[in-house]
Amino acid sequence: MKTPNADDACRSTASLALYRETMGRLAGGISVILSGTASTPRGMTVNSLVSVSLDPLLLLFCARRESVTARTVIETGVFSVNILSEQQMSASRYFSGYCDAPSTCEIAGMRDHIWIKETVGSILCSVETAHRAGDHDIIIGRVRDIIDNPSRPLPLIYHDGRYRSLGPACAEPDHGSLSACLPLAVGAA
Ligand SMILES: Cc1cc2nc3c(=O)[nH]c(=O)nc-3n(C[C@H](O)[C@H](O)[C@H](O)COP(=O)(O)O)c2cc1C
Repeated sequence: MKTPNADDACRSTASLALYRETMGRLAGGISVILSGTASTPRGMTVNSLVSVSLDPLLLLFCARRESVTARTVIETGVFSVNILSEQQMSASRYFSGYCDAPSTCEIAGMRDHIWIKETVGSILCSVETAHRAGDHDIIIGRVRDIIDNPSRPLPLIYHDGRYRSLGPACAEPDHGSLSACLPLAVGAA
């Protein structure tokens, strides 16, 4: 039997096209990273947003090394994460460079931060740290404030290269109701 060595483990036989296609099947929400000022905002659409830590509150997104927005984020040290609603597809298209400025995308600002109005929620961050990873940078932000939207609009979804709306919930109990059941189930055993 051949013992795997480090070289074998590092070599990739996966094609870029199949990798992109496979990752494209991972459905997810869309956010816009915003930095700069209300008069000269810099923004980019991302689907690489990940929550990292609860204590302290940290999140990350990944940006191409050439990203102008990521450069602004690093230079200014502050940014906002704007989780888009299903009404905000034009903002996603605009901040990914696919169309002219949408008429419906309003930007608000307070002190160092700017954010997009009427999102599912906007998270105001300062840059905690940044790491190089291949042709991207991983930018980790510390959460400073959250702009909540009490009207709870549904999120915009991206899957297989297309924008979509959230479908109906599955019949199975969600995590909220499941964890509410667990102590009862354990107690009954
Ligand atoms: C659905 C979607 C998700 C995207 N996610 C990312 C991402 O996570 N990271 C990234 O660097 N670019 C991503 N992009 C591409 C950027 O939005 C695009 O390159 C943008 O023009 C970058 O702007 P900038 O150079 O001004 O920063 C995504 C585009 C789309 C349409």
